[in-house]
Amino acid sequence: MAESMAGLSRSHRCTEISSQDIGKTVTVMGWVQKRRNLGSLIFIDLRDRSGILQLVFDEETLSEENYEKANSLRNEFVVAATGTVSKRTAAINENLKTGDIEILVDDLRILSESDTPPFPIDANQTVKDEVRLKYRYLDLRRPNLQKNLMIRSQVTQITRNFMQKEGFLEIETPILNKSTPEGARDYLVPSRVHPGKFYALPQSPQIFKQLLMCSGYDRYFQIAKCFRDEDLRADRQPEFTQIDMELSFVNQDDVIGVNERLLKKLFKEVMDVDVQLPIQRLTYQEAMDRYGSDKPDTRFGMELINVSETVSGCDFMVFKGALENNGSVRGLNAAGLGDLGRKKIDAFVDFAKDFGAKGLAYIQLKTDGTVKSSFAKFMKEEEMTALIEAMDGKPGDLLLFAADKDSVVFDVLGNLRLEIGKKYDMIDESLFNFLWVTEFPLLEWNEDQNRYQAMHHPFTMPMEEDLQYIESDPGKVRAQAYDIVLNGTELGGGSVRIHQNHVQEQMFQALGFSMEDAYERFGFLLNAFKYGVPPHAGLAYGLDRLVMWMTGEESIRDVIAFPKVKDASCLMSEAPNTVDEEQLEELKIKVDNEEVQE
Ligand code: AMO
Ligand code: AMP
Repeated sequence: MAESMAGLSRSHRCTEISSQDIGKTVTVMGWVQKRRNLGSLIFIDLRDRSGILQLVFDEETLSEENYEKANSLRNEFVVAATGTVSKRTAAINENLKTGDIEILVDDLRILSESDTPPFPIDANQTVKDEVRLKYRYLDLRRPNLQKNLMIRSQVTQITRNFMQKEGFLEIETPILNKSTPEGARDYLVPSRVHPGKFYALPQSPQIFKQLLMCSGYDRYFQIAKCFRDEDLRADRQPEFTQIDMELSFVNQDDVIGVNERLLKKLFKEVMDVDVQLPIQRLTYQEAMDRYGSDKPDTRFGMELINVSETVSGCDFMVFKGALENNGSVRGLNAAGLGDLGRKKIDAFVDFAKDFGAKGLAYIQLKTDGTVKSSFAKFMKEEEMTALIEAMDGKPGDLLLFAADKDSVVFDVLGNLRLEIGKKYDMIDESLFNFLWVTEFPLLEWNEDQNRYQAMHHPFTMPMEEDLQYIESDPGKVRAQAYDIVLNGTELGGGSVRIHQNHVQEQMFQALGFSMEDAYERFGFLLNAFKYGVPPHAGLAYGLDRLVMWMTGEESIRDVIAFPKVKDASCLMSEAPNTVDEEQLEELKIKVDNEEVQE
């Protein structure tokens, strides 16, 4: 039967007690991790969020009632125990922080009993994801998840302190908003008071933080919940959290400066990792040319090499055709993989095809000096020699080439580089390589809609020297936009914003919006800009992604207390779900049951 804790007060968490407390009376509370009976002694591993502590119940010294209770304990019972801190009688457990002590209990209360849990609460047990997520409240008892959420809390605490010291105000922005599409699909909330109308949940606080700058708040930050109805991946959730900030009267370097200080502090205090400042910067074009990615993993080399010029005169149709179509031929030198078997090389070819390549040409420079190539027969000998030289190929190297339009070549070789790097252990996992990627294109071409769209968002400032091309050659215009990348993950991104109306108008024109459309969507922001707007800029991190790196987790779910699964549902609460007929009537919503799948 569950007892109350009347008159009891917890004196310590389990691992707050050490051998220095020997002889003291303490009261601890927590969950039973394990019970062992050894003759007239009962040992309990007691667990709380700090860790594990051993309790000992001695039949000879304990009251019969207390000993009976100890004997009835099972895993996950919640108990309070009062006793004396003692030196361990049995062998010291080196794996435990409290491994050299135990509590000789003289009073025990069972605060709550437990059914047998569906899986043991133990970090080392592998349990199916579905089961873990259905019983998330039990999964969250496991030490590894507790550690992750503690680190997450530490990150937000340090961030808040840091931002406050740097003169930022923490201001909340609304969750129920007007839909202003920002790229991903919106989550909508129907209005009861305005039937037929909907709120949209924020994809980010972007417009509101810019309004706060108009209102003179100068430096804003928020740990902000954001909602995006997009396809989920290992590092994406439908609701996630940003560390979001906006600053007035600053340029790009000011924003980068604040954030470098923040990252340095966070990584030092949470992980004891020294981030070297200034963080390396690459322009978008350099990042693409060297790594085939706008979020390169710089922990290893194997950079892309542009051999378009070297092969420009050859008759190999694959290369020639790509160059004639304004594309390029680029290669990777997978040093040391020249002796790979045919099957392994074919796997690279298939991998490349998955990313849209029509093929993957290769030259194997075997260690015995022989050369094997998928296209040598189409090339003259001196052309092959020049190509190998351009690739710095040596015996033992494998040279891989993609020929296509640039976007395909980058995608194929960028991904292949990562695949080979991971598969052949070329990545030094102990490194934390930060990188700013700057000078992103302002616009990208949307094939489906046959128009340009903003690469970051429509309020991003073009680079001044490129503004002249915004009408004649919009694709050429670079933006004052920047991403912060860690080991190949985009941790965050931001930009300097447009604060001049005429530039904003040019931007909308380039996006194919009339000013009317623009006012329809963003009128409140554009109107606000008529009343004195300071130059401003900002950035947002994905907090979840940041914590993933700090905890070494591979899934974003492991750093979120109550995450959703791939189809955006919650296996524990079973959200989303149907609602009562009355609720729908109030909202004047009819569900087309024929279209709905149960
Ligand atoms: P952006 O859209 O680049 O910029 O988002 C900023 C960061 O948020 C994280 N993120 C996500 N994390 C988890 N799940 C998701 N579905 C998800 N989507 C994005 C990423 C990303 O780098 N308002 C601008 C910022 C600005 O300009 O100031 C914005 O939202 O880590
Ligand atoms: P084929 O003439 O089709 O047999 O191609 C000769 C070699 O070129 C094969 O190794 C193909 O995989 C490769 N190849 C075909 N298309 C491309 C391409 N777009 N880029 C790089 N290699 C290619």
